[in-house]
Amino acid sequence: MDKEIKILHGDCITLMKGMGNETVDLIVTDPPYNLFKDYGNDSDRRSHDEYLLFTRQWLSEAKRILKNTGTIYLFMGVRYISYIYEILEKELGFIFNSWVTWYYTQGIGKTRGFSPRHDDILMFTKTKDFTFNLDDVRVPQKYYRSINNMRGANPGNVWEFSHVHYCQENRQNHPTQKPEALFERMILASSNESDLVFDPFCGSGTALRVCQQTKRKGIGIETNEDYVEMIKNRLSKPFYGFDSIDERMTRIPNDLNDTALREQYISNHINWFLQNHPDKINDFMKTVNQKYPKRAIKLDFEQYNLFDNTIYLIIQLQIRKKEGN
Ligand SMILES: C[S@@+](CC[C@H](N)C(=O)[O-])C[C@H]1O[C@@H](n2cnc3c(N)ncnc32)[C@H](O)[C@@H]1O
Repeated sequence: MDKEIKILHGDCITLMKGMGNETVDLIVTDPPYNLFKDYGNDSDRRSHDEYLLFTRQWLSEAKRILKNTGTIYLFMGVRYISYIYEILEKELGFIFNSWVTWYYTQGIGKTRGFSPRHDDILMFTKTKDFTFNLDDVRVPQKYYRSINNMRGANPGNVWEFSHVHYCQENRQNHPTQKPEALFERMILASSNESDLVFDPFCGSGTALRVCQQTKRKGIGIETNEDYVEMIKNRLSKPFYGFDSIDERMTRIPNDLNDTALREQYISNHINWFLQNHPDKINDFMKTVNQKYPKRAIKLDFEQYNLFDNTIYLIIQLQIRKKEGN
């Protein structure tokens, strides 16, 4: 396995006690929500008070090991989120930054009450001096305007991503596997290359897979030994692009009618928004050709190694050839 990525088997509170103060740049984690899911253990079936005690214990350790420039992102369902917000802010002195809603279109149906269609992610920082790389997580603009920042817009705090479906190749045998693109956004925004990212509740290893593909160091802990093996296997698989993407990433802005501007924009777009999604470059080019049919660009991907970082240079060359320069 990758030397920069470590997966530890055991209980996260015990193992965190062995980690040094202020050694981790970012914590991104998705603990059990205490909703009686079967993780092959009893971790998701505690009494209300036991669950909050457990939460206080692991969050105290998390705060100790987090650097002063660090951020914690914590997934949570509606049942416990208000209690956990209180623990983070009032008891542990973290600083609130964002309440992100992960919105999905499919899920269980309720017959008495409204079917749940979101989970939430609390983002707190340890101090006011924290890492945040907005440029690395922008989304494409809807319109080309010379006064717009064409590097993209802030993605906002409602994030729409589908669950990883059972028919998808990357779907693991884990009941609450999260889409990689969720972790991609948090990790790119709140850490730099070579930083150490930590996930104490690793599950199927989504956080570690994203660290591996975004040049971060990663440490993950998982208490179920079968899941640890699953993670090792997942990390050994070839990479073709993350298993999910914000659909806005494949849109081309309206009003990009100037050929030279569009040419430059297309190569920038691929470089900025599709760097970790080479398998989506084709979809993006389809939307380009649909929106700007008179100047349709044919890309013959078959002859290239799609997953080579130089793909956007090749696209630039193809555009030039087409335009006769
Ligand atoms: C919600 S799942 C994480 C899913 C993960 N984000 C993914 O995308 O696959 C929570 C995981 O925490 C593990 N877990 C529960 N208690 C733990 C503990 N004390 N220490 C380490 N892992 C624990 C469970 O076995 C479960 O796999």
